[in-house]
Amino acid sequence: MKRSDAATRWGLLGYFLKGSLALFLCGIAANFLGTLLGALIPQVISVTIDSVIGREELSSRNGWIVEVLGGREYLAGHMWLLAVLIASLALSIALFHYLRLYFNTRANQTMVRRMRDSLLSHIRRLPMSWHRAHRTGDVIQRCTSDVNTVSNFVSGQLVTLFRILILAAVSVVMMFLMNPTLAAVAASFVPVLIAVSYLFDRKMKRRFRECDEQEAVLSAIAQENFSGVRVVKAFGAERRERDKFERQNTYYTGLWVRIEKFLALYWTASDLFVSLQLMLIIVLGSVFCVRGELSPGDLVAFISYNTMLMDPVRQLGRIISNLSKAGVSIDRISEIMNAVEERQGGGELLTGDIVFDNVSFSYGDGKNALENISFTLPEGETLGIVGATGSGKSTLVALLAALYPPSSGTVTVGGQDISALPPSLVRSQIGLVLQEGHLFSRTVGENIALAAEDAGADEVREAAKIACVDENIHSFAKGYDTLVGERGVTLSGGQKQRVAIARTLLRHTPYLIFDDSLSAVDSDTDAAIRANLKEFCKGATTVIVSHRVTTVMHADNILVMDGGRIIERGTHEALLAAGGMYRKIYDVQMSLPEELAKEVRNG
Ligand SMILES: Nc1ncnc2c1ncn2[C@@H]1O[C@H](COP(=O)(O)OP(=O)(O)OP(=O)(O)O)[C@@H](O)[C@H]1O
Ligand SMILES: [Mg+2]
Repeated sequence: MKRSDAATRWGLLGYFLKGSLALFLCGIAANFLGTLLGALIPQVISVTIDSVIGREELSSRNGWIVEVLGGREYLAGHMWLLAVLIASLALSIALFHYLRLYFNTRANQTMVRRMRDSLLSHIRRLPMSWHRAHRTGDVIQRCTSDVNTVSNFVSGQLVTLFRILILAAVSVVMMFLMNPTLAAVAASFVPVLIAVSYLFDRKMKRRFRECDEQEAVLSAIAQENFSGVRVVKAFGAERRERDKFERQNTYYTGLWVRIEKFLALYWTASDLFVSLQLMLIIVLGSVFCVRGELSPGDLVAFISYNTMLMDPVRQLGRIISNLSKAGVSIDRISEIMNAVEERQGGGELLTGDIVFDNVSFSYGDGKNALENISFTLPEGETLGIVGATGSGKSTLVALLAALYPPSSGTVTVGGQDISALPPSLVRSQIGLVLQEGHLFSRTVGENIALAAEDAGADEVREAAKIACVDENIHSFAKGYDTLVGERGVTLSGGQKQRVAIARTLLRHTPYLIFDDSLSAVDSDTDAAIRANLKEFCKGATTVIVSHRVTTVMHADNILVMDGGRIIERGTHEALLAAGGMYRKIYDVQMSLPEELAKEVRNG
């Protein structure tokens, strides 16, 4: 959506209301007609008491009802006609009531769907930096309970607000027509009730916001615990995690109890106030009746209208307090909707050399994860990157895949600055096998075909073969249709890595990055996969990140990283000859089996 649309709360609501506004209006119209018919009933009762049962003259206000039904004398003998009239009015009101609910529910569902769709497609397009800055539990809460709060506000409170305004307007007009003095007394209580509601609302606003924030913390704790259940159990941290959850849960519950106490106080006070008003109306009304300024029938009708006015006005408090709750929710949603999306695009081909020119990058924590990185990777060649853990290897390839823009310097492919290209275009051309590939709760086949939905079963199998995981998959009971994840099999670390490789290969991108993607497979399989890649990815420009020297030693060029900088570069032979860090890593890794053997012998 356009940023300007979401600039205000109402602007955003308007955007979400597209497609459901007409339905809401139909609901409001049905409500209006129902209310008008409802206002007729007290008039029928009034004229019946005064002129059909009693002997008062017919008035211009409601006398026509008697005339239409055949006149006083006729009606006095056929009272059931009045009963039928009231019953048909009630039936029509029920019909309009049904229509109101029907339109309102349909409108509500349409709106909720639109909100969820817009939020999800927007979130998908937000940059990594945004995702990194927001907790998953919090984002999920905004997409579920905040969406519900807002839609309940529109379909419940906002529509009720219209209903109250219609009811109040109709009843006040009727009351003034019957007795202006008494009507003025009745109406004078309304502003006081509204003022109290307003003050109440201001107090509630802060409390609801706090509750929402604490609910987000609570669901984030739960969500982290469920997704990290293996770590929690492996470290026996259940108790500590449970205590942490319980503490937060108690605090959160306490907040709600305080809110409920406050609500109870408000409702009791307002009950008292409304009873007081009713008492005054009855006393004053009776005085007017005795003085002959008000007929008994009109007093009964007046009391009906008074209830019609005060009951909904009392609800204003709840609506206004929900208004603040909805306001908080819509602000939380608009924070998401106002975040700037990544540019979309694709279809074009990237070709040429990859060039990092004096690139530095910081995750925003004050220190540089990459510093002055410069290198050229000619098209079609393979670059190896080795380095200690935390030296910035994953960060470097993340920049190359346009997951983050560099803080300074440029990354170009074929002379084009990739920060200037739509990130989706860059990613469609640069296949990245992530260090921590995530598998979804779908079948193995679907996990491989994740980014290439039109790929056939043969292609999926072919990719799996190159990644040396085809055999493993066949050993599962349902082969490629085996479910992965919570409800299915759990893949080993090495199997996961190879599924992730197959997933990337299937996209046939001209650039390939493997971020430590073979760390969990044994050396033989590592070599077999690399041999397959050489064959299959002929011509692809490849970056291989690894801790293992044997994995990168055949690359055309190798970078050695430390502390975010490139400290050595060259071919395997040149680096060995130079006798630097690379040589050291090589020696340690090559001699490791012997040393281990020695230890075993001595041990
Ligand atoms: N998402 C992040 N937010 C903040 N800092 C990060 C983030 N990811 C990595 N870092 C920091 O950036 C530095 C480089 O990390 P990076 O993941 O690039 O290292 P690496 O060389 O890939 O390590 P490994 O070999 O363990 O995968 C580290 O100091 C790390 O703490
Ligand atoms: Mg890494």
